[in-house]
Amino acid sequence: MGASRGFGRAFSHRIWDDSVDRRLLLMARKAELLAELKEYLNNTKKDMNTRGELVKFFTCDFSREEGHVLAFQQLEMFHPERIFYFAGGGPYGAFEKMDWKDHMWAWTVTYVFAARVVHWAMQHNVEQVILVGSAISESQGDPRGASYSAAKHALLGLVRSIHMENPAFDLRLFSPGYMDTDLLPAHAPPRHSEEMKSPIEVADVLWKWSNEEPSDFHLIYK
Ligand SMILES: NC(=O)c1ccc[n+]([C@@H]2O[C@H](COP(=O)([O-])OP(=O)(O)OC[C@H]3O[C@@H](n4cnc5c(N)ncnc54)[C@H](OP(=O)(O)O)[C@@H]3O)[C@@H](O)[C@H]2O)c1
Repeated sequence: MGASRGFGRAFSHRIWDDSVDRRLLLMARKAELLAELKEYLNNTKKDMNTRGELVKFFTCDFSREEGHVLAFQQLEMFHPERIFYFAGGGPYGAFEKMDWKDHMWAWTVTYVFAARVVHWAMQHNVEQVILVGSAISESQGDPRGASYSAAKHALLGLVRSIHMENPAFDLRLFSPGYMDTDLLPAHAPPRHSEEMKSPIEVADVLWKWSNEEPSDFHLIYK
């Protein structure tokens, strides 16, 4: 969920490299990018003995209630075994100078819908859900990214608390450091440091971790 660009897109490629007849449902807002990704992935398996098209996509907006309803309809039909939730973001600037609707957008896409997906998954026998946190913003303040940071703290609180309820459910939080994607503003200082990683490298770490028996439900990778 959040597969059209950046980390989610790199992860979709990574998951696909390892699968013979895995089915994949890609979701985000931009139909053109999802259609292109779907075609690319389906074409790479064209010569294999697969049962028709394994990759599907669905466009919807996670910031809106109707987007949530449509996404759950798709998930009901698809019956996923695993869900990876990548969508997130928020306005960049002093808290009071940003519009309230932009703060609401950040909380809804980064936290509220992610939490709702976990709730849905736990009620629908999904085996694993992995949410994406932030090594930086989930555990310290993030000036000019207050609503984003608040949403990432909330994700960590949610996952920690659910784990204390001992669920028979594989819920994890993967928290990367800076990655070279559209999320990071063009002139953001991390772009000029060695801290910034390629989403392809980070997607590989996430994919391997998602297939292991973890010693902890939370992995920070930076
Ligand atoms: N980049 C970093 O430095 C960094 C660091 C730490 C953590 N992270 C986390 O990693 C995750 C992925 O980030 P990224 O850097 O890959 O960001 P990105 O390049 O902005 O990609 C975000 C993805 O989420 C989708 N998305 C955004 N808003 C959506 C909405 N309202 N409804 C449906 N889909 C939506 C986007 O697709 P559409 O535009 O097509 O909807 C896109 O596929 C995020 O949770 C982010 O917080 C990133």
